Amino acid sequence: MKLLAIETSCDECSAALMEDEDLKSIVISSQLVHSEYGGVVPELASRAHMELIVPVIEKALGKSGFVKEGIDGVAVTYGPGLAGSLIVGLSFAKAFASSLGIPVVGVNHMEGHLYSAFLEKEKPDFPFIALIVSGGHTMLVHVKEPFSHELLGQTRDDAAGEAFDKVAKLLGLGYPGGPVIDKMAREGNPDAFRFPRAFMNGDSFEFSFSGIKTSVLYLLRELKYTSPDKDEKLVRDICASFQRAVIDVLVEKTVRAAEKFSARSIAVAGGVAANRELRNSLQERACLVNAKAYFPRSLYCTDNAAMIGIAAYFKYRKFGMVSDLTLKPVPNLPFVPEIYQPSAESL
Ligand code: KG4
Ligand code: ZN
Repeated sequence: MKLLAIETSCDECSAALMEDEDLKSIVISSQLVHSEYGGVVPELASRAHMELIVPVIEKALGKSGFVKEGIDGVAVTYGPGLAGSLIVGLSFAKAFASSLGIPVVGVNHMEGHLYSAFLEKEKPDFPFIALIVSGGHTMLVHVKEPFSHELLGQTRDDAAGEAFDKVAKLLGLGYPGGPVIDKMAREGNPDAFRFPRAFMNGDSFEFSFSGIKTSVLYLLRELKYTSPDKDEKLVRDICASFQRAVIDVLVEKTVRAAEKFSARSIAVAGGVAANRELRNSLQERACLVNAKAYFPRSLYCTDNAAMIGIAAYFKYRKFGMVSDLTLKPVPNLPFVPEIYQPSAESL
C-alpha cells in the first residue's frame, strides 16, 4: 500500500511517502518565522503552511519516485494542534484524495509520536511503554499491541519541553530552551541546587513541572540574577541542576511503568528525546530492569509526516482502510483509542 502522509499540526509542514511500513521519502519544512517571537504564532503558522504545503508535497513525491496516480491513500493529522494549521493539511488531503478517488485517513498526532520508533530498523517489541516528551506534551502510554494502548499519566501543568523553554527564558538563554540548557548542563554541577521532583512517591504516573520552573524563578530573584553573561558557572550549575530534576522524574516514572507492565521495550518520542542526559540515564536505568530504550533519530522524534504515515499503517492493519471525507480539525483531540463513527465509510 502506497500512502501520502501529511503533518501540519503546529509549525512543521511535512509530507512523507510510505510503502507499507517503509519510508520512501520525507520533506520537513520548519517555519523559522516564530523564533523572533519566542514561540509559535498560530496566525503566522497557518499562513506559512498555505505557502509551503504544495511545494513540500511535490518535493516529497518527486523524491519517492511515486506518481500521484499510484497512491492508495492519504493520511493526515486532524488533531491535536492549532486549528488554522490543521485546516491547511486537512483541506489539502481531502482535495488530493477526492481528485484521485482514494481514501483519506485521519491520524491523531500523538499516535504518530507513539509509533515513531517503528520508523527505525531496530524496533521496540510489544508491549512497550512510550514516553512522549515535547514542548506541548508529557505522557506515558502502555502500548499492549498496535492500536491498543492506555494512557498511564500526563502532565498536570507544563510539558517537559515547555519547562526547558520557560527556564531558558528566565535565564535569558533564548528559544527554544532545550538544546541550550542541554549544552550548558554538560559542564555544570547537577547537585549545586536542589529543585523539586513532583509526584515521585507512590505509583502515580502523572507529572508536574511548573513547580521546578517557579523554584528557578525564586532562586534567580534571590541571587538578583540579571543576565547569563555575568556568571557563566552559575548558569551552567542552574541548567545542570534543573535538567537533573526533570530527567530524574521522567526516567523514574518510565522505568517504574516498564516494570509494572512487564514491558521489555521503552520508546521515547518528542523534541525532548534529543536530550543527552535523558538518553544516557534512561538507557542505563532500563538495563537494570531488563528493558531497552529506543530513541528514534531526532528527525523522527520531532513533528514529521513519517510518524503519521507509520501510525496510519498500523491503523490500517488493525481496522482496515477507513476513509472519512467529513473529517474536521479537532484542536483538543484527546488521546484515546480510536472509535470510528458510523458515518465513516469503510473501503
Ligand atoms: O516535538 P517538538 O519539536 O515540538 C513540539 O513541542 O511539538 O519539541 C520541541 C521541544 C521544545 O520545548 C524544546 O525546548 C525541546 O523540545 N527540546 C529539548 C531538546 N531539544 C529540543 N529539550 C531538552 N533537551 C534537548 N536537547
Ligand atoms: Zn508533536
